[in-house]
Amino acid sequence: MTALNVPPFIRELRPYVAGKSIEETIREYGLKKVVKLASNENPLGPSPKAVAAMRKAMRSLALYPDPMGYRLRHAIAKKEGVAFEEIVLGNGSNEIMELSFHALSVPGDRMVAGVGVFAAFPISAKIHGIETTFVPMTADCRFDLPAMLQAVKADPKVKWVALPNPNNPTGTYNVDSELLPFLTEVSKIRAGSVQVFLDYAYWEYVTNKEMSDPVLWFKKFPNVIVLKTFSKIYGLGGLRLGYGIIHTELSQYVQKVRLPFNVSSLALEGGLAALTDRNFVKRTLALNSIGMKQMAKALQTLGLSFLPSQGNFFLVDVQKRSGLSGQDFFTRCLKKGLIVRPVTNYGLPEYIRITIGTAAQNRFAIRVMKQVLNEQ
Ligand SMILES: Cc1ncc(COP(=O)(O)O)c(C=O)c1O
Repeated sequence: MTALNVPPFIRELRPYVAGKSIEETIREYGLKKVVKLASNENPLGPSPKAVAAMRKAMRSLALYPDPMGYRLRHAIAKKEGVAFEEIVLGNGSNEIMELSFHALSVPGDRMVAGVGVFAAFPISAKIHGIETTFVPMTADCRFDLPAMLQAVKADPKVKWVALPNPNNPTGTYNVDSELLPFLTEVSKIRAGSVQVFLDYAYWEYVTNKEMSDPVLWFKKFPNVIVLKTFSKIYGLGGLRLGYGIIHTELSQYVQKVRLPFNVSSLALEGGLAALTDRNFVKRTLALNSIGMKQMAKALQTLGLSFLPSQGNFFLVDVQKRSGLSGQDFFTRCLKKGLIVRPVTNYGLPEYIRITIGTAAQNRFAIRVMKQVLNEQ
């Protein structure tokens, strides 16, 4: 037998559980119609401008992509109002976490995050030997920033804070009046060596006026790393494209550990075109805004309580109304052709998460949930 040299933190690792696919559900349940509202994807599909640009770029697929992503990074830097050197491209924004941990940390460091934090953070951290200290959320399922600050102060091993805003799967958020004192205090701890990930994957959907553009925090605090993605508002989840806005003194190291060609030429061209697709963004936002209202109203009518959300999804307490766990409610919906997301792995066994779809998808979802409730 081979003597395996697998570190304990890799042995213990519990990998990310992705949303169930339509194909898998059709296969398992022999269904004709399946609606997936499980992964916060864009119900309008991909940005048409991105698709056209990628079609054109396919002719050059024999060539390797630009390893520095020159044109896309310039376009993003211009849009965000930051320097070219401050943009790092990733195979999804998840890869930016990976690269940052890889470049800027050593096993034994720790991260502070709220319970219910987007799962990719603790998983990615653990891959790099970084354990997470989970801080309980407030009673209304928001990150408790004062308690998180104390956790950062208390442990000299803490080098990271993960703060998705709004968070997924909760959809809940922290406003400027909470963020400013938190970031100010964290920036003073251990000579500013604690890095704060501000993950704004859903920023474009945010309507709350008390939430500022994360670039404001980036410019104010040298220890802030902003994560953004093309997976949501531009409808390009399958393309795998995201970026980090990282201060130059750190980004040079993050770039060093990025293998060349981590972003494909299709992603470079598709992303560039998506940035100019204002009409698509506008349509996506309008659809989401109407869909959030439609879903909220229906959930209220069904007697299902849900958390206020600034994303394109709701976290719904199904247990209170139905007595079913989130997992059981999910399975019953699945059998009727609706894929939602159970979130037991987030320590939230009484909830399911549902993505806002098109009006027709939402109607289907509401009908299925009603049937499940009526069967109880
Ligand atoms: C909070 C958060 N961050 C990031 C992502 C997406 O990451 P990526 O850009 O790797 O698709 C998601 C997707 O579900 C998310 O919910």
